[in-house]
Amino acid sequence: MEIRYLWPTPVAQKMVFLDEPVRRDLISVLLRKDAERHKIGITSPEFEAFMTSKRFYASSHYNLFAEADTHPEHAAIKTFEWLAYGLFRDYLHRAFDIGNEQTVEVAGRCFGNVQASGDRTFPHYHQSCDAVLVHYLDVGDGEPEPPSTTARRGTHALLLLDPRGAPNFPWWEKVSSITPHRGLTIIHPAHVWHETNVWRGEGSRVCIVVNFQVLKPGYLDLHRRIPAP
Ligand SMILES: [Fe+2]
Repeated sequence: MEIRYLWPTPVAQKMVFLDEPVRRDLISVLLRKDAERHKIGITSPEFEAFMTSKRFYASSHYNLFAEADTHPEHAAIKTFEWLAYGLFRDYLHRAFDIGNEQTVEVAGRCFGNVQASGDRTFPHYHQSCDAVLVHYLDVGDGEPEPPSTTARRGTHALLLLDPRGAPNFPWWEKVSSITPHRGLTIIHPAHVWHETNVWRGEGSRVCIVVNFQVLKPGYLDLHRRIPAP
């Protein structure tokens, strides 16, 4: 009898300590972008009008990598872009045995997630991409307190949900929890549903997020824009 575990869900965890000026600059630009979220009707009027007309929820609609040169923190953004790309290539290598000998073209969208005490992130997955990187720039004043009874109940624990349809015996645990710390970096497939517990710390909890899309190799490379008739 051969046992093959098919279609596993590779989740990477790594502590990454940015130079302090880079970390501070990234927090600065993400706090500013978060404060300007209400300007979506000015910066992306067509998107805002569409989302409003359909009553869709519109979250962060920008790409920090694409607009880096418009920010005084552009050097920190570029530094993080290269760091994130390197981490993603390492993830591809370790999770899927895709090394640097393989030409891989990657696109990415970078944005922030800023939360005050009492906030949480509701269950979601990331659409239109292949993998997600999240890096905790700041977890407020001090580290979150230890989990009360189980890790899944910890303050602002990241909860990753079992992507399988209806697993039963012996997979009792349908939730995997990760306790956030400054510097913690996680990469997971984009289709994995996830959420967070409520953030109960003092100060802002700031994450920087990258949605990665592999353009090549793959069928995306064949896609072409279809001109309107
Ligand atoms: Fe997410």
